[in-house]
Amino acid sequence: MNQNLKKLPLKDDLETTAVLKQLAKTSRCLAELKGVARTMPNQNILINAIMINEAKTSSGIENIVTTHDEIYKAMVNSKNTTPNAKEVVDYRSALWRGYELVKEKDMISENIIIEIQEKIEHNKAGIRKEAGTVIKNQRTGKIIYTPPQTYDEIIFWLRNLEEYINNKLYDIDPLIKLAIIHYQFESIHPFYDGNGRTGRILNILYLVYMELLDTPILYLSKYIINTKQQYYSLFQETRETQNYEKWIIYMLKGIEQTSQETINIINKINHEMKTMKNELRQKTKIYSKELLEALFFEFVTKASYIKEKLNISERTALRYLDVLVKEGFLSSEKIGRERIYKNDRLFNIIKNYGDDNSKIKSESEEIVTINV
Ligand SMILES: Nc1ncnc2c1ncn2[C@@H]1O[C@H](COP(=O)(O)OP(=O)(O)OP(=O)(O)O)[C@@H](O)[C@H]1O
Ligand SMILES: [Mg+2]
Repeated sequence: MNQNLKKLPLKDDLETTAVLKQLAKTSRCLAELKGVARTMPNQNILINAIMINEAKTSSGIENIVTTHDEIYKAMVNSKNTTPNAKEVVDYRSALWRGYELVKEKDMISENIIIEIQEKIEHNKAGIRKEAGTVIKNQRTGKIIYTPPQTYDEIIFWLRNLEEYINNKLYDIDPLIKLAIIHYQFESIHPFYDGNGRTGRILNILYLVYMELLDTPILYLSKYIINTKQQYYSLFQETRETQNYEKWIIYMLKGIEQTSQETINIINKINHEMKTMKNELRQKTKIYSKELLEALFFEFVTKASYIKEKLNISERTALRYLDVLVKEGFLSSEKIGRERIYKNDRLFNIIKNYGDDNSKIKSESEEIVTINV
C-alpha cells in the first residue's frame, strides 16, 4: 500500500482553534453568496457568465492560453475557432455535465468523476492502468511525488474517497471536508492527466451537493492560480508533516476570498441589468423581461436564440437586434457565415474579473504530471 496516503476519515483532530476561527469567516461569506445569488432573476445567467472565467482560469493552470475574445467566438461557432478556446468551452461543458449529474443522482460517484475527466481530456483512457505516473517539477525535472501506481491501489483509494464524500452523517464541517477531499483526490491522482482540472470541478460540485450553494457559482481556480507556489508546496508540506491545519486554512481562505469576489461580480451584473432595463425602456419600444434575460444569458447571442426565447419570428428577432445595435446595447460581428451579437457591458464585467493573474502565473514554477 502507498505509504503516502491515509485512509479517510482521518483520525486527526482537524477542528483546531485556528481552523475554527477561519471557518467562521468562510462560512459567513459563503452563506452571504448563497443569499446574494438568489437575488438574481435567473441564476443561469450567473452560472454561464462566471463559469466561462472558471474554465479559462482553470485551463490556464494547464498553460492553455487563450483570450476572452477567442472564447466567445468558440462559444457560437466551433468551426472558426482556436483549439485552446475550444478547450475552455469544453471545460465549461464538463462543469455543466457534472452539475447535472450530481443533481440527478444526488451523489458524487466514481463514475461521475470519470465522466468529467473524460470530457476534459477527450479520451476514454479512464483510470490509470499502467504504472509510471509521477508529479514532476518541469524546470528541475525533480520528482516531487509518486502517487499510487497500480490500478487496484487506485481503485481502493478512490472507493474510500467516494464513501467519505457521500457520507453526510460524518460529523465534521463540510468545508473542512472539502479541503481534505481535494488533498486526497490530488494525492490519489487517478488519471494520466487532467487531475488538477477534474479536482477543481469536484470542489464546486461538492459545495452544491452539500447544499452550501444552489448552483455551481464559486470558482476557486483563480485563487489557486494566484497562489500557485503556496498551493503546490502545501501538498508536500502536509505530506511530510502529516499535519493538515495549514492546508485546511489555505483552502478555507480561498473559499472566503472567492465568495467575496463572486458577490461583487453578482452585484455588478445585477446593477448592469437594472441600468440596461431602464435604458431599454427609455430608448426603445422592445423591452421585455425575457429580452433582458436573453441578453444576459450569455454575453453573445444570435437571431435564432432571440427568436426562440421570445417566441417571435426570425424577422422580428433580426429587427430587434438591429435596434439593439443601433442604440449601442450590443455590438455585432460576422463569424463564418453567422452574425453574432455581443453584450459588451456584460463581457467587460466578466473579462476584467478574470484577467489579472498573468504576472503571477509567469513567475511561478510549473508542476506537471508526467508518465515515465
Ligand atoms: N505534490 C503534490 N501532491 C499531490 N498533488 C499535487 C502535487 N503537486 C501538484 N499536485 C496536483 O496535481 C495537479 C496537476 O495534475 P495534472 O497535470 O494531472 O492535472 P491538469 O488538470 O492536467 O493540470 P493543472 O492542474 O496544471 O491544470 C495540480 O493541479 C495539483 O492539484
Ligand atoms: Mg496536466
